[in-house]
Parts: sequence; structure tokens; C-alpha cells
Amino acid sequence: MHLPTWGDEVSGANEKIGGIVEIRPSLLAADFSRLADHAREALAAGAHALHADIMDGQFVPPITYGANVVKSVVDATGAVVDAHLMIVDPEKQVKAFADAGVRGVTVHIEATPHLHRLLGMIRDAGLEAGVAINPATPLGDSLQYIMPLLDRVLVMSVNPGWGGQSFIENSLEKIRFVAAQLKAAGSTASIQVDGGVIPANAGDLVRAGATELVAGSAVFKGDVAANISALRDAVSAALSA
Ligand code: DX5
Ligand code: ZN
Repeated sequence: MHLPTWGDEVSGANEKIGGIVEIRPSLLAADFSRLADHAREALAAGAHALHADIMDGQFVPPITYGANVVKSVVDATGAVVDAHLMIVDPEKQVKAFADAGVRGVTVHIEATPHLHRLLGMIRDAGLEAGVAINPATPLGDSLQYIMPLLDRVLVMSVNPGWGGQSFIENSLEKIRFVAAQLKAAGSTASIQVDGGVIPANAGDLVRAGATELVAGSAVFKGDVAANISALRDAVSAALSA
């Protein structure tokens, strides 16, 4: 198997599964001492893009890494990266992540009173704008007035802060609700699901409407290539059923 070396362009090398679904490994579960190599392994095995979890010790208890580390991974892998900001004052970080070369920035609906302005800032920085929703946060019609600014809706299927948690089952219901709302509005925004994603629930997630599966432990713990294959197979089976 050819493992790409430094400087190889690996992003975009893998077609979406069924033309619809992407696997986006979460770097949180990767080996931080060899982040770019571990990420490249996942991309070479069939992952589509990388997901970077940014935690500040305030919005959630842990602290992970910031835009400078993400820039190193972007530069070393050439991968498409989306940054999931689990931080207070996300407005202050948009430019740093744009400069780091990410493709998208996702902010929590719970983290700002000025979501419309913030999504506009992200778009104005030339990035895909995403909104993340915690498990306890009801949606109601909260997407209604930001719909034109949305490139991505991230349904959290665990409480943010840690990898390796169990999938919260009623997230499926929320994904279906988001999918219906996007469809009704004629939006092409992607639906990302993050937390406890494993091969055993990947099919249900895709059937519910998820188009981007974020997985940390299920990718980086153990044999990365076998893990990616298992996720891809589960998605393919669901799409062809
Ligand atoms: C949780 C993060 C997730 C996390 C998922 O706060 O947003 O991206 O890394 O990890 P797993 O796939 O192990 O649940
Ligand atoms: Zn995440």
C-alpha cells in the first residue's frame, strides 16, 4: 500500500461514499506525538477529511490544541480540515483558523448570543460555516433565520469534551429533524454527527440523514486502515440497502 509522504496531496483523493457520505476522523483520538502521520494513515485508508476538536478549558473542561497545531497538520497533509470550536468567545478565533488553512469552522449554538453575525464572519473569511448543537439543546425553529448562512449542521451525539463516550441514541431523532428542516428550506448544508460513531451505528446515522461521520476512537484506536474500512463498509451497506 502506498502511504503518502510529506507534501503529497491527499485531500479530495477519496470520493464520497455513494457520492454522499464522508468519514471525517477526529484528531482528538490520534497520537499527538505523530499527528500528521496518523492523520495521513487515515486519509490513505479512505477517510475524506479531518476534524479538529478545539477545546479551551472553559466551554468544556479539557484543553486540546489551537490554530497553530492545526496549521501544521494542514501544511503537512494537505487535508481538508474542519475546526470544531468548543470554546467561549469563538468570534476571537475565526481569523486564526482561516489563516491556519482550514476549510470550515463550526461554532456551538450555545457559545454565542450573536450566531447570525458569527456565521457571517466565518463565511466572510472564505470558510464553510457550521453550527454545532449539544445533546440537550432543543432545535425548535432555531435554524430558521440562519439557514442561508449554513454550510454544515453538527449534531453532537455525546456531550462535548471527551472522546470515547457512548452514542446518545436520541441523536438519531435530532438528525432526522435537521434533515427535514434543511430539505424544507432547500438547503444543501451537510449534516455532521460527532461522538460515539462506530460501524454498528453508522448505517442508522446515514439513513437518518447524516452526510459526514466524525469518528475518533473508532478510527485511531487499533488498526486505522481496518477501522476506516469497517466504517466505509457500514455506510456502503446502508446506502445500497
Ligand atoms: C467530543 C468531540 C469529538 C470526539 C469524538 O467533544 O467533539 O469529535 O473526538 O470522539 P469519539 O469518536 O471517540 O466519540
Ligand atoms: Zn468534534
